Amino acid sequence: MRFDVLTLFPEMFSGYVGQSLLRRAIDSGLVEVHIHNIRDWSPDKKHKKVDDRPYGGGPGMVLRVDCVVPCVEAVQAMTDQPGHLVMLTPQGRRLTQTVVRQLAGYPRLLLLCGRYEGFDERIRLLLAPDEISIGDYVLSGGETAAMVIMDAVSRLVPGVVGDPEGPQWDSFSEQMPGLEFAQYTRPREYRGLTVPSVLLSGDHARIAQWRQENSVERTRMRRADLFTPSGPPPTDSPPERQPPEQPGQATP
Ligand SMILES: C[S@@+](CC[C@H](N)C(=O)[O-])C[C@H]1O[C@@H](n2cnc3c(N)ncnc32)[C@H](O)[C@@H]1O
Repeated sequence: MRFDVLTLFPEMFSGYVGQSLLRRAIDSGLVEVHIHNIRDWSPDKKHKKVDDRPYGGGPGMVLRVDCVVPCVEAVQAMTDQPGHLVMLTPQGRRLTQTVVRQLAGYPRLLLLCGRYEGFDERIRLLLAPDEISIGDYVLSGGETAAMVIMDAVSRLVPGVVGDPEGPQWDSFSEQMPGLEFAQYTRPREYRGLTVPSVLLSGDHARIAQWRQENSVERTRMRRADLFTPSGPPPTDSPPERQPPEQPGQATP
């Protein structure tokens, strides 16, 4: 799996990429991370400006189409295999484990991080990205959202998580569509709280049964919405790939 991150703040990634699971995945050749500074594609060679004031007035600055589009095109051309372009935006379809699984199916992802007031609309119109939000709140930049995606997706790359069975049984996984069952480890008793005796029984069938029931009960108590008969929300569907609309055309 190859990630190309397009950002105005490349230095934010050094700590994250240099640590833990992702570092090990990179060292073992399972994951590649390439960070690109959008400023390098600014037509303003002197000041490397990438943003400007919004037409029509209003607060803040908007990322310019003539920086971002050439940047995405140049990064796409860096390998023979164009990547799946993800635009991080609070206006995108919401990230869920189903969406994470979809993203993990691509061998290469481009993660386009916004800043300030976001992107000039023509970037979306020209590039037709898969717009993804990590939740209904507004971050100051797409970088932390890109890290969330890299983390969740790379866990699904075979070999990245030590025990290959691990991700299969996590909450929201195909095996465990609700929440994972309660977990316990040593000591057996702490401040009067004991480990359920079935987990100490060595009877694998009974343990599996207890875990299944515990998972269902926890999901019912905490996230009953996961059991809705209508299935996952419509935001779980990948977008239809449409030819770019003409700039200036009205969009929803
Ligand atoms: C301050 S936000 C811009 C928000 C924009 N004015 C709006 O209301 O839709 C700046 C950037 O942070 C990123 N961002 C903010 N919230 C996000 C979220 N919930 N999910 C993914 N990216 C987010 C996006 O890349 C966005 O372009």
